[in-house]
Amino acid sequence: MRRLTLRQFRVFEAVARHLSFTRAAEELHLSQPAVSMQVRGIEKILGLPLTEQFGKKIFLTEAGREVLYASQSITARLDDLQANLAQLRGMDSGQLNIAVTTTVSAVATTILASFRGKHPKVSIHLDVSNRESVLGLLAANRIDLAIMGQVPEGLDLQATRFMDNPLVVIAPPDHPLARKKKVSIQDLASAPFLVRETGSGTRGAMERWFADKGMEILTSMEMSSNEAIKQAVQAGLGLGILSLQTLEQELALKRLAVVAVEGFPIMRHWYIVHRSDKRLSPVAQAFKSFVLEAAR
Ligand code: PGA
Repeated sequence: MRRLTLRQFRVFEAVARHLSFTRAAEELHLSQPAVSMQVRGIEKILGLPLTEQFGKKIFLTEAGREVLYASQSITARLDDLQANLAQLRGMDSGQLNIAVTTTVSAVATTILASFRGKHPKVSIHLDVSNRESVLGLLAANRIDLAIMGQVPEGLDLQATRFMDNPLVVIAPPDHPLARKKKVSIQDLASAPFLVRETGSGTRGAMERWFADKGMEILTSMEMSSNEAIKQAVQAGLGLGILSLQTLEQELALKRLAVVAVEGFPIMRHWYIVHRSDKRLSPVAQAFKSFVLEAAR
């Protein structure tokens, strides 16, 4: 019987991830016919088609999804093996693949910097994106660890809380609400808000908080960056709700003020997260312990 090869799995995994032969070929630095040939090779051995095409779109067949599942676990096992063997050659030659959400990136880079100070030869790959994308990287088993807000229930993830993350309402210092000693939630009803994009944890937490109070806020603009929100609030385009940890400079320089809204801050927390089935490499394990230790 002819056997499936690792190369076929790797090529198919890229096709399935991109749902495109062209993009898989680009990623793997192969020609498109070479990619098609590898996938055809698997189909021939299995006797089943792995992809189907409707119009210009490619979809995975049920067999395709099975092969994808198998190739993801095989590649993840091989990556783990490689990382662990690297560790046997010495802890400091390891690689750490980590993803953090935008809002925690400043805190995370400070922690990473002191970790690297202790382990100068560890190479670090850092992805910074919003909550939804970080959850996607965990689901695809493409990272060792993530630092992010509370993870949704029902996912096979191990999340350890290590730090508070208070969200506050911000305004320009000369805004009438910024001058009030006590601001009620009703005072916010007619104020336009600048909000993060859908998929952001900050946005989700803010929406849940107002929904709990039976209130909907007026959104004037949606932006995919905390920096852009801070600038727009300074420019007087509306109020914002952001993590206090992203506001240190603007508050110190009195470019922004925290509005004293009743019930605020919304208290969130930062977690260090990995898949429950992940065998953490010694470097990843050391980083996790370092984060928890630093928080203590
Ligand atoms: P984000 O981060 O708003 O940048 O997505 C918050 C979170 O991790 O929940």
